[in-house]
Amino acid sequence: MSRPRILVTRRWPITVEAVLSERFDVTLNKDDIALDAGHLHEALRAYDAVLPTVSDKLPAALFEGDAIRTKILGNFGVGFNHIDIAEARAKGIVVTNTPGVLTDCTADIAMLLLLSVARRGGEGERELRAGAWTGWRPTHLVGTKVTGKTVGIIGFGRIGRAFAQRCHFGFGMDVVFHSRSAIDPMEAARYGAMQLPTVEDVLAVSDFVSLHCPGGAENHHLMNAARFAAMKRSAFLINTARGDVVDEAALISALELGTIRGAGLDVYEAEPNVPERLRAMDNVVLLPHLGSATEETRTAMGMKVVDNIIAFFAGREPPDRVV
Ligand code: DGY
Repeated sequence: MSRPRILVTRRWPITVEAVLSERFDVTLNKDDIALDAGHLHEALRAYDAVLPTVSDKLPAALFEGDAIRTKILGNFGVGFNHIDIAEARAKGIVVTNTPGVLTDCTADIAMLLLLSVARRGGEGERELRAGAWTGWRPTHLVGTKVTGKTVGIIGFGRIGRAFAQRCHFGFGMDVVFHSRSAIDPMEAARYGAMQLPTVEDVLAVSDFVSLHCPGGAENHHLMNAARFAAMKRSAFLINTARGDVVDEAALISALELGTIRGAGLDVYEAEPNVPERLRAMDNVVLLPHLGSATEETRTAMGMKVVDNIIAFFAGREPPDRVV
């Protein structure tokens, strides 16, 4: 029997590519260049499985027609808002993701952004590299103390909880959060956190607001102009979730007008494009979507995709099926 044809859309850790290639007829993207819509359209017609990442947009239009061969999309990542899930479901295509293995590393990047923006680490590094540091002085790059401050978390899934734990037990912060589901207060207390009824309640009391909810339609522009206005003027926004959770134009205005004090961002609305006005601001720390970027995590993510694909083609239920 011929082996399933599989397309891996970007380079993966080499060990994971090797495991996959032992089992399947695999086409690798050796150049690691993002595939455009035309190539992805073709791929859905030519491969039994396509293994995309967040950089591969798969809107409904790509699934049109009867010639779709793909039976499973094994997404390399936990977030899957780049895939039109309803359309995949309508076409009978299984979609899987990689939950659990990137929790700690993504929470770490949120912590890194919080600390960097509060303590002006990015500004300091840029100044020093530019040869502009003139030496220690009491008023130089004075930031905001983190210990004792309140962090507000929007979304209390795995990553939100891991971030809460770091903030409370590691950095002595008070933690409040908003979640659509009611969380048992005893469970929240394990992470040093307390649930508040609304997003606005969280915004009103937080010195840092960190986003940990999924992207996609349900949370599109959850942080908009009105919500920035509801934050303290001294507060910072941290986003390691998805770019579309934030109305980027409204964020830029809020930063320029001083409605909020600063932001630490790992994700953007139109990656890899980051607005020039954002890049020009000193009170913003910008990372290029590094949340899960450690050797250990990227390997674990790849192995999760492999496990899902193996299960699927063996006729078993993939462990991380989302559709
Ligand atoms: C994830 O897993 O969702 C990361 O953001 C990469 O897509």
